[in-house]
Amino acid sequence: MKLIMEENACDFNRRSAAEIARFIQNKPDARICFATGETTKGIYAELAELYKQGEVDFSRVTAFVLDEYQGASRMNPASCLARLEAQLFGPVHLPEEHIHSFDSAAADLHHVCMEYENIIRSEGGIDLQILGIGTNGHIGFNEPGASFDSISRVVEVGQETIVARSEMFGSKELVPRTGVTMGIKTIMNSANIYLFAVGASKAQMLEKALFGPIVPDIPASVLQLHPSLTVIADKEAAAKLPGPILVQPE
Ligand code: GLP
Repeated sequence: MKLIMEENACDFNRRSAAEIARFIQNKPDARICFATGETTKGIYAELAELYKQGEVDFSRVTAFVLDEYQGASRMNPASCLARLEAQLFGPVHLPEEHIHSFDSAAADLHHVCMEYENIIRSEGGIDLQILGIGTNGHIGFNEPGASFDSISRVVEVGQETIVARSEMFGSKELVPRTGVTMGIKTIMNSANIYLFAVGASKAQMLEKALFGPIVPDIPASVLQLHPSLTVIADKEAAAKLPGPILVQPE
């Protein structure tokens, strides 16, 4: 595991974007799976800045969306796809035909999930998986208890997520109770994983996930088994990690 800690949220966003940009510079046709959430929002804004400055080119990148709410199409600004389009894909002019997402408004979501696995396979797998972490250790919509063998599937949206996204959907009641997500096995099959965590609310879970027992009750703990995991955190999120923490130079 490579661990990078930055002093504050600003440096965290800048460094995280720089690491993603470097990945793309080294592999311009990278297949990248993107998470949504508050953590990645700031990172994507920085990445869009790097694009504007001509530092990174997304024209050959293929994008996958990690998870989606049932029934939330790209027309719904709260959907994961719409947010990624607004925060990143649009600003960096990622070609429309290079974007893969769950058709979560379809009637047969099980079929949609099977198809998603097929698309990932036929594209050649994922080179870089971008992840955030829930305060209960979730990754994507893989909530505590999710099998480490899980692949893309229909899931119940966790209580933490319902509360966290209530403003975005207009109210708690309006947050869809069902979602679709890449599974833990799908995530672990990615060649590289970048896990991002910012803020004090993530400190306790980040320590448990990275240094505690590897158990389905803490989905992110499985990441300890990944051969190419990079963790980028700000000082607050890294506060409970066993020191001294390695601060990798850029
Ligand atoms: C959400 C998403 C995840 C995200 C995580 C953390 O519910 N399903 O993909 O990484 O929770 O969210 P945040 O970055 O807002 O804390």
